Amino acid sequence: MDSTQVDTASRCAPSESEPADRLIVALDLPSVTAALGLVDELQGQCRWFKVGMELYYAAGNNIVTHLRERGFNVFLDLKLHDIPNTVAGAVRSVSSTGASLLTIHAAGGEKMMRAAAEAAARPEAPKLLAVTVLTSMAAPDLAATGVADSPETQVLRLAKLAQNAGIPGLVCSAQEVEAVRQAVGNDALLVVPGVRPAGTQGSDDQARVATAAEAIARGASMLVVGRPITQAPDPSKAAAAILAEIAGA
Ligand code: C5P
Repeated sequence: MDSTQVDTASRCAPSESEPADRLIVALDLPSVTAALGLVDELQGQCRWFKVGMELYYAAGNNIVTHLRERGFNVFLDLKLHDIPNTVAGAVRSVSSTGASLLTIHAAGGEKMMRAAAEAAARPEAPKLLAVTVLTSMAAPDLAATGVADSPETQVLRLAKLAQNAGIPGLVCSAQEVEAVRQAVGNDALLVVPGVRPAGTQGSDDQARVATAAEAIARGASMLVVGRPITQAPDPSKAAAAILAEIAGA
């Protein structure tokens, strides 16, 4: 890892990093060509890109290599969720890609997360983030899966489970990030998706949303923003507006 990665991934306390170290642009696009086209449009503004299932299944480790060669930090959002042995193997398989962050699902349980943490205990491995309750889920969606508690209660339960398993970071929504920060302390890397610029009409498929300024003010370490930037008529202008929101928070 280069020094930027080490610094950013280990600095968790809000206010210590520059805005560009706290914005991760989600490259939810179908090909390397489309992804790198967008990356070029954001050149000089953004330092972090997220590679999720759509792009990774289409492009594999190639896209991570391309982004690393251009000097960007990569968040590999694969949301691993399987039995402990399988998840540990997957963590080992992607450890050498050069990604700085990798997600697993906290719902996989403490044993699965502990196995993942052990597999990631090597210098070249990405830092692990446990996804709590997806930001697309509201209380009724959660209830339909058999979880009668509120999203916040379930997020806090999963956050503590992840912390007990030795996972250094969490993904949660801005609605519960303040409570999570209080529960897990300042050392945890708290990454918040479901960010929508102030004044946005609709929230696509996201349910628990907030503005970038709100998420940062409530204790988020880093924000993930996809469509508000990638689908904007002018992605560079959209990214600049979100960076300004982060700076002003
Ligand atoms: O386009 P949008 O800003 O809604 O994209 C949010 C990104 O964050 C997506 O890539 C999605 O996979 C990811 N994500 C999320 N909710 C989580 C974890 C990750 O929306 N809990």
